[in-house]
Amino acid sequence: MNLDQMVDAIEKLQSAKRFKHSLGVKDVAYDLALIYGYDTMKASIAAILHDCAKHLSDDELIGQCNIYNLPVSKYEMQSKFLLHAKVGALYARKLYGVEDEDILDAITYHTTGRPSMTLLEKIIFTADYIEPNRRPIPRLNTIRKEAYFNLDQAVYIILENTLDYLKTTNNVIDEMTIKAYEYYRKLIEASSINS
Ligand SMILES: [Fe+2]
Ligand SMILES: [Fe+2]
Repeated sequence: MNLDQMVDAIEKLQSAKRFKHSLGVKDVAYDLALIYGYDTMKASIAAILHDCAKHLSDDELIGQCNIYNLPVSKYEMQSKFLLHAKVGALYARKLYGVEDEDILDAITYHTTGRPSMTLLEKIIFTADYIEPNRRPIPRLNTIRKEAYFNLDQAVYIILENTLDYLKTTNNVIDEMTIKAYEYYRKLIEASSINS
């Protein structure tokens, strides 16, 4: 399936609001790829497909993990929507013919992040957070500006925001997000000491 066919398929699958979000992520991911010297086609594909399993219910997500033997962590068991990321990567491979591991990883880690993300993972993680249709979030405009100058700094602020937000809700905090936050906090501290 080529990119245009993927866009058409996602439009049929998603609500108008979610499809607008997917297109927003695609546009921002394209720009970030250009700025940071990454393949814009791969970034566009990862972006348009990143939420391709988000329409599934919690039960359906668990069902797909059982059928395809995808491991479910205790955090995912408590916040099942997190599973749309790894089921999304599975669908990208099975339904959209994506074999590129960079793209599949970017879809898998778009919700939680992880330590030492690849450039494409950071592009999708950030684009998902800052695309123009996002409802206002604290520090969103700071993150938007930072994203185009220092992607690691943007990733760090997003992780910090996400942890702050999760602490105010009853949602469990995925261990991967905490590990990612610690990794980027150290990275940003080290770069500010060296500069
Ligand atoms: Fe998502
Ligand atoms: Fe998203």
